[in-house]
Amino acid sequence: MSLHIQAQAGEIAPAVLLAGDPLRARFIAESYLEDARCYNEVRNMLGYTGTYRGRLVSVQGTGMGMPSLALYAHELITEYEVQTLIRVGTCGSLQAQVNLRDLVLAQGACTDSSMVRRWAGGLDFAPLADFELLDTAYHLVKDGPVPVHVGNILASDTFYQEEGGDPLWRRWAALGVLAVEMETAALYALAAKYRRQALTVLTVSDSLVTGEVASAQEREQSYTPMIELGLEVALASLGK
Ligand code: HPA
Repeated sequence: MSLHIQAQAGEIAPAVLLAGDPLRARFIAESYLEDARCYNEVRNMLGYTGTYRGRLVSVQGTGMGMPSLALYAHELITEYEVQTLIRVGTCGSLQAQVNLRDLVLAQGACTDSSMVRRWAGGLDFAPLADFELLDTAYHLVKDGPVPVHVGNILASDTFYQEEGGDPLWRRWAALGVLAVEMETAALYALAAKYRRQALTVLTVSDSLVTGEVASAQEREQSYTPMIELGLEVALASLGK
């Protein structure tokens, strides 16, 4: 047991999908895993282990934002020896060519949070995806039906934008940052610190450029390619 996860040693697989919404974690477990067993209900931050195409995989809810994700990722790494962490989530597009329902593979994660700088002892560390996971993910989807974008994203502490003036997100957009979410810089920095593999796979759920927001039904349908990709990359990371 760790502080926020009640699983016993060995109950969590070496590869874990991370979903912000714990009910999404349950949905993934119930829809994609065989013999899924819930190992965590502390704070309703549900976690499950089951088999996907014959291999053990786990899926854990993390909550929203870097402080919440970081405590689950930290405990999975340090108390349960998790090797591969794959975040599946949603993002807001910062670029005109990144459309609703597209996939974004976060090659790097900029941040406006102080968290990574604190962990790095004041250094401006650049949090990056694990190249092997990124390469695997890209090759699985590059010729598929859903457009995929690979590049920098922004992990922000704020969801609602500041009032008036030129919004800050435009400055990130001017640097080619593809999309905004709220978790990945912390995930990649933790993976770097503990020498684990991490990747974030995102579906575009809204656009700060156009103001569009995907409907609930559109969101539901667009999650499928992302979840399947996350599971396939998790499987590949386990080796033969
Ligand atoms: N901002 C931050 N996080 C998000 C967004 C957004 O627009 N969309 C989905 N996650």
